[in-house]
Amino acid sequence: MRKKILAANWKMNLTHTEAEAYFVTFLSEIGQVNDLEVVIIPPFTAISALVTASEKIPAIRIGAQNMHWEKSGAFTGEVSAAMLRAHYVKYVLVGHSERRMMFGETDEIVNRKVGAALHAGLRPILCLGETLQERDGGRVEEVLRRQLGKGLEGLAPRDLPEIVIAYEPCWAIGTGRSATPAEAEQSHALIRAILSELFGKPTADRVRIQYGGSVRPENAEDLMRQKNIDGALVGGASLDPRSFARIIWRTEAALT
Ligand code: 13P
Repeated sequence: MRKKILAANWKMNLTHTEAEAYFVTFLSEIGQVNDLEVVIIPPFTAISALVTASEKIPAIRIGAQNMHWEKSGAFTGEVSAAMLRAHYVKYVLVGHSERRMMFGETDEIVNRKVGAALHAGLRPILCLGETLQERDGGRVEEVLRRQLGKGLEGLAPRDLPEIVIAYEPCWAIGTGRSATPAEAEQSHALIRAILSELFGKPTADRVRIQYGGSVRPENAEDLMRQKNIDGALVGGASLDPRSFARIIWRTEAALT
C-alpha cells in the first residue's frame, strides 16, 4: 500500500509570521491525521518557523521549493541540500514547471538536483508534465518519457522509493482547469508503466505519484480515488488553511 501524500506548495506567498498564523488555523481544522502524509512547502524564509511549529506532529513534514545541486560555493542566491537538512527539511520540490519555464531548469539540471537531494538524505518530489501545446500535439507520452528518463538517469532501483513524482500538466496549473480524474489517471498509469520499464515493476509499484493542477476541495476526492493517484500537490487552494484542510478530509474520504 502506498501512503497518500498531500503537499501544499505555497510558491512565493506568506511571510514567516503569516505562516505561523496559518499553521494554528490549519491544525485546529485538520484534527488527527492518521493514514496520510502531509507536507507543507513554504518559501525558504518560513521553513524554520514551520519546522518549530510542527515538531510534535509526525504526520506533518516541511519541504522546500528548490535547492542547488552543489554542496557549497560561489552560487549567490542559492541554498544547498545540506542547509535544508540542517533545518530538518524532509522533502524538496525539483523541476517544478515554473522553474523549468521561468528559470531555465533543464532535465539535466533537474537530474543533478534529484541526485544531490538523495545524497543529502532529502526526498525529492520530481515535478513533470506536458504543456497544452504538447498535449494537443499528441506528445504526452514522449514528454513524460523524456522527463522521467533524463530526470532519473543514473539512479538505482533502491533510490526510487525515496522519490515522489508529481504529475502536473502545465495547462492545469493555476488555471482552474484541472485534469479530469480519467485524464489524470491515464497519465499516472503511463508514468508507472515507464517507471516499470526503467526500474522494474516491484519498484514502480512502490513509487508515489501525486497529481497537481487546480486541485480543490471539490475535485480532490474523485482524483484521489484513482488507482495510480497517490496524493496531490496543491498550489492556490493550499494558501487557505481551511481549504487545504478540506482537501485532506476529502482524501481521507477517498481511502474508505
Ligand atoms: P495550482 O493548485 O494553483 O493549480 O498549482 C499547482 C502547482 O503548481 C503545485 O505545485
